[in-house]
Amino acid sequence: MSDDPPQPPLDAMSLRLAAANALIRRRRTIKPVDMSEKPVEPKVLAAILENGNWAPTHGMTEPWRFSVFTGEGRQRLADFCQNLYRKVTPEDQVRPEKLEKLGKQPLMAPVVVAIGMKRQDIEKIPELEEIEAVACAVQNMHLTASALGMAAFWSSPPISYTDEMREWLGLGDPRDKCLGFFYLGWPKSEEWPEGQRGDIMEKVTLVPK
Ligand SMILES: Cc1cc2nc3c(=O)[nH]c(=O)nc-3n(C[C@H](O)[C@H](O)[C@H](O)COP(=O)(O)O)c2cc1C
Repeated sequence: MSDDPPQPPLDAMSLRLAAANALIRRRRTIKPVDMSEKPVEPKVLAAILENGNWAPTHGMTEPWRFSVFTGEGRQRLADFCQNLYRKVTPEDQVRPEKLEKLGKQPLMAPVVVAIGMKRQDIEKIPELEEIEAVACAVQNMHLTASALGMAAFWSSPPISYTDEMREWLGLGDPRDKCLGFFYLGWPKSEEWPEGQRGDIMEKVTLVPK
């Protein structure tokens, strides 16, 4: 018998809140270097992408576009990233460790999703809001991955934002954008990393009534 006092039963709202808290606060960035070689099953990947598709979208433009790299495709991505980095970086500023990382990182995760933003032709919705909608889609995917115990990482090297990258990804309109890469896999470690955040009240202003 436990000495703890009896706990009141949790009502439905508390249970739902506990579920939301767990999902949101346990979402963690786990980088490719900490991913195992375990593949991501197509149905798992499909479930993650599908949840991305349920992001909020002003005017229902659904601006998110995802290019999924697996297998040998990751090597082509790595080669392109390295060549592009060499092309856009002044020779005396090329950092060998950066170059090496661009070539290795895509091969360390079983799945790399290039994150695209497709600009609506009539530009009814401000560009900022289309970028925000894509970020919501990535958050949906990241939350889903964490819920499944998967490792995920949003990476945004400066080459992401170049016209060369945008075009290579098939985003043909100069108003479209690549917003980086979403790496997906399984964690090597059985220990889930701790997150950290500063106090919310430092970011909140209570406006006088
Ligand atoms: C838009 C965006 C771009 C990011 N780009 C990078 C990146 O290029 N490199 C990096 O190390 N982390 C990047 N991150 C991930 C953050 O480092 C990570 O979210 C932060 O360390 C907090 O960790 P958590 O996601 O586990 O809470 C990015 C996150 C966002 C939202």
